[in-house]
Amino acid sequence: MNLKEQIENLRAELSQHNYNYYVLSQPTISDFEFDAKLKQLQELEAAHPEYFDPASPTQRVGNDITEGFTQVEHKYPMLSLGNTYSEADITDFYNRVVKGLDGEAFELVCELKYDGTSISLTYINGVLERAVTRGDGKKGDDVTNNVRTIRCIPLKLQGNYPAEFEMRGEILMPWKVFEQLNKEREAQEEPLFANPRNAASGTLKMQNSAIVAKRRLDSYLYYMLGEDLPFESHYECLEAAKGYGFKISDAIRKCKTLKEVFDFIKYWDTERKNLPVATDGIVIKVNSFEQQKRLGYTAKSPRWAIAYKFHAERALTRLREVTYQVGRTGVVTPVANLDPVQLSGTVVKRATLHNADIIESLDLHIDDMVYVEKGGEIIPKITEVAVNERFMFAEKIKFIDKCPECGTPLVRMDGEAAHYCPNEDGCPPQIKGKIEHYVSRKAMNIDGLGSEIIDLLYSKGLIDSIADLYTLRVQDIAMLSGLGEKSGKRIVQSIRETVNVPFERVLYAIGIRYVGETVAKKLVQELHSIDKIADATIEELTSIDEIGESIATSVFNYFREQKHIDLIEKLKSFGLKFEIDLSKKENSTNLLEGKSFVVSGVFENFSRDGIKEAIEINGGKNVSSISSKTDYVIAGANMGPAKKEKAASLGIKIIDEQTFIKMITK
Ligand code: IVH
Repeated sequence: MNLKEQIENLRAELSQHNYNYYVLSQPTISDFEFDAKLKQLQELEAAHPEYFDPASPTQRVGNDITEGFTQVEHKYPMLSLGNTYSEADITDFYNRVVKGLDGEAFELVCELKYDGTSISLTYINGVLERAVTRGDGKKGDDVTNNVRTIRCIPLKLQGNYPAEFEMRGEILMPWKVFEQLNKEREAQEEPLFANPRNAASGTLKMQNSAIVAKRRLDSYLYYMLGEDLPFESHYECLEAAKGYGFKISDAIRKCKTLKEVFDFIKYWDTERKNLPVATDGIVIKVNSFEQQKRLGYTAKSPRWAIAYKFHAERALTRLREVTYQVGRTGVVTPVANLDPVQLSGTVVKRATLHNADIIESLDLHIDDMVYVEKGGEIIPKITEVAVNERFMFAEKIKFIDKCPECGTPLVRMDGEAAHYCPNEDGCPPQIKGKIEHYVSRKAMNIDGLGSEIIDLLYSKGLIDSIADLYTLRVQDIAMLSGLGEKSGKRIVQSIRETVNVPFERVLYAIGIRYVGETVAKKLVQELHSIDKIADATIEELTSIDEIGESIATSVFNYFREQKHIDLIEKLKSFGLKFEIDLSKKENSTNLLEGKSFVVSGVFENFSRDGIKEAIEINGGKNVSSISSKTDYVIAGANMGPAKKEKAASLGIKIIDEQTFIKMITK
């Protein structure tokens, strides 16, 4: 067997295992064996880039190349369906079909309505060519690289498939993955996803397909389009698609009568709670393509299909009080406190009210009877007030005008829904929140300092800002109830160790609004020291890749306040890093001076950040996308074909890792 055959056999074998595992849920080899074979293939492909294939199973691991998304026009517009909520609406739909077909017999196909984000997949000669989001229905984003990481979506088809067609379906985040992801985000103090749908669409639009690959997205496909497809009905099409390797739901039923349709709805309205993914209704489609054609379309949707939405479970209970929470950034969130009530298996006592506009639009009064719903969301919300039950002299709820924590008058910026407490340095939850952020794992990672201890230290007057952490003594902490000398020592030690934290994390930790991890990294990469960042103009800041107007303004304004300058001076005096590591500068050379590089793919001797750092230490410049000004593209394993083509068409040198290493070793 020659090398090419060996690679192709491995690819075919791994694709089959993928299908067995992710589509059929029937694996036939262990994860260990699978990983070993995948690794073997990765190595062969890395050694022989001439056999690159975007449909190889190795392409499912993704990479962290940032390239933005290109907009692609849909060949066939992506329409939506009319929504209905009652049996009467379905009967109306049925009667319209009867009339439209002049009384001719017809079949309906009932399917689950999957609650994710829709996708259009184009296959040419059995290979996944393109995956495009719905967008505005006419144009969507090309998210092919991300979709390739979704294991149940075939990269290559099996059997006797049409030469060219489009497959549409839904990308979903399974409940379990969603819950785990939110748990992690909570621990990292990142905003939570409201439901699996938002999480799926957010994930699909991420710039880093390696992260997408880790999110374990799922998908169901439900619609095939193409010229002259060799099928007469929708049902037949889906059966065939199943044979090509697509994941098609088993919850599909051909119905001849309305009663059968209603039975399907009744069954799945309860049974859907046992499914691993979210569904929000059922879709009813006329089966025959010929009949579909005759029924045609309205401007917005087909006349041959309709969606029925399940009713979200809701419960009626009494609103006792509205309380207000102040977050780390000063945003004030109203919370409804309710008489406890059972809803979808849990007891609900509180519901979020989001902001003043929501309270106003519900016209809430104290002691109102209100309907709460969970729907796809994890946090229940009030959807309606039972106005007839209101007491005659009930008091209307008025959003507070002073901060419930510090009494400062609240402000509301033009065009924003939220009220803020502007007392950044005197409002307890804001002070404590900033300290909690500072010590968190991704920031300074100070061990042993949880929110309860911060609370204690703050209430005893021992800390009032992040700088105060550095003057804490072991006995201060030891004296606190329940904490001994040992914890005290550990915490103080952990605080001392923050002098080793790299500058980019210090910058993230000090909590400048809109400066998250990625932005902090970018600022540090480009400007190297806090003094340069503080002196940068808004124009200089916005000229940095990925830094827009609002981030730039926030950074600029931060350094215009004396108290922030004082804070940084203090932290500097404690020995924290406020510039790029000097030890790295000592190794620096100017071997790559004046040269710009695009890094692509995965490397053996470097992490991606590592190779970028090596470029900079040696005087070169990193750029994120290939242009005529790029000097070199360093190609690792898994480099995308689009990049390869672009570099080749612009005549840019593509070098491998070894060549790069030679360039930086004198
Ligand atoms: S058929 C022209 N079938 O619901 C008909 N859609 O408004 C194309 N959806 O945009 C859609 N499950 O994102 C169809 N089994 C299913 C579906 C489904 C979910 C989504 C889809 C569509 C929306 C309907």
